[in-house]
Amino acid sequence: MPLLETREVAKEYHVGDHIVHALRGVSLGIDAGEFVTIVGPSGSGKSTFMHILGCLDRPTRGQYLMNGRDVSTLPPDELARVRNEMLGFVFQGFNLLARTSALENVELPLLYTRRGVVKGSERRRKAMAALEAVGLTDRADHHPNQLSGGQQQRVAIARALVADPSVLLADEPTGNLDTATSHEVMEIFARLRRERGLTIVVITHERDIAAYGSRTIDFRDGRVTSDVHHDQALAEPSLR
Ligand SMILES: Nc1ncnc2c1ncn2[C@@H]1O[C@H](COP(=O)(O)OP(=O)(O)OP(=O)(O)O)[C@@H](O)[C@H]1O
Ligand SMILES: [Mg+2]
Repeated sequence: MPLLETREVAKEYHVGDHIVHALRGVSLGIDAGEFVTIVGPSGSGKSTFMHILGCLDRPTRGQYLMNGRDVSTLPPDELARVRNEMLGFVFQGFNLLARTSALENVELPLLYTRRGVVKGSERRRKAMAALEAVGLTDRADHHPNQLSGGQQQRVAIARALVADPSVLLADEPTGNLDTATSHEVMEIFARLRRERGLTIVVITHERDIAAYGSRTIDFRDGRVTSDVHHDQALAEPSLR
């Protein structure tokens, strides 16, 4: 059974008196431990698809199953619970709190957990472990404006990891980074998949960034136009 599965998912937006067909029937299964990269032109439905995978939005038609359970019809609070327990998000713009240290930014998701209050000392321990996973323990006390773009994105990845999700979803995580830093960030995703078996989905505009995936899916006009599983050897460009 796939970890994540969409069945004929369609998403429509009503804008004024016309309808935007953002997704026109997408059926995809993503297995645990896959590293999926999503490419496609602007407006092709990539972010819309990721919002559905991330339980941030619901399909207009079709089903979305996580671990075989249809979550497309769950009420908002149930959907939020699934999101908090299973998913971590990384965005293009890092979305860190400016007046807050790297460590405190990473601790933040633990303040809102539904599994009860996480003690302060426990929060700090987990946040430090997450910062260690992205190689940033020496920057724990720095504020975002004292960090490079790549370091800020690594803090954001640590924040996405801290509640121990099974899936990381990243919408153009390298969109604001230079080429070398983009590759560093993708190496971190590849390592997290290798070492922890995390399931990772990354949207990107760049083919060489997409090459880090074990599988690359092309979107065009709300549909999947290609879905390619790469050889293991190809999954990590550094090994080529
Ligand atoms: N909230 C919304 N209301 C109305 N239309 C929307 C909304 N969100 C997205 N759309 C439309 O749905 C289509 C798909 O948008 P989406 O953001 O998924 O594209 P994308 O592939 O992520 O593009 P980009 O590469 O530019 O980020 C576009 O035509 C977009 O204008
Ligand atoms: Mg987008």
